[in-house]
Amino acid sequence: MIKACIFDLDGVIVDTARYHYLAWQRLAKELGISFTLEDNERLKGVSRMRSLEIILEIGGVTLDEKKKEELAVKKNQWFVDYVNAMKPDEIFPGVKDLLQKLKAKGLKVALASSSKNAKAVIKLIHIENDFDAIVDGTMTTHTKPDPEVFLLAAKHLGLSPVDCVVFEDAEAGVEAALNAGMKCVGIGSPKQLGKANLVIAHTGDFSIDHLNSL
Ligand code: BG6
Ligand code: MG
Repeated sequence: MIKACIFDLDGVIVDTARYHYLAWQRLAKELGISFTLEDNERLKGVSRMRSLEIILEIGGVTLDEKKKEELAVKKNQWFVDYVNAMKPDEIFPGVKDLLQKLKAKGLKVALASSSKNAKAVIKLIHIENDFDAIVDGTMTTHTKPDPEVFLLAAKHLGLSPVDCVVFEDAEAGVEAALNAGMKCVGIGSPKQLGKANLVIAHTGDFSIDHLNSL
């Protein structure tokens, strides 16, 4: 029986995945690298530095560590600027309600994000007090599809992986959840997220009844 729901942040709770994309696209343009929405799927759920490396691989560009660090800082500054201009109502419809319904049913809810900006983002959309556990990119060393972030969330909740279901919009995130031995609800398209136990278009479409079908 599922005892906890673990939520990814960007693209699952709030539409910040598009700000990551805009910032990476801006950087790729500066570097003269063509970077498409399809390429962007490979970056979802992946750490900042690994994302930069994927873009450089796409462009066939090699840079030293110092330059890479500089570019990662630049991209992050753009992302932070976009996010700071964000309105609290950019939280996806139905998410706040879903968190409350799950808690009312006695389930635990956790946040497990690869982002080092996760705590700032949840504050901006006023849900910083809605989780029983929060794990972000400052607390992990391995990026999704490694299961570390989800295993740590389960540990903080005091639960076993089999008690948990993960909500993910990234292919790497779905793999990470399955690698953790957890169930997974994909948010988006079955084309990218077909390995998940269930795929729905929007987080707000999830209902308590879905828990029984996982
Ligand atoms: C994930 C996003 O949540 O966080 C990725 O899906 C992003 O696109 C990663 O690269 C790391 O985020 P940040 O904010 O630490 O650069
Ligand atoms: Mg995501």
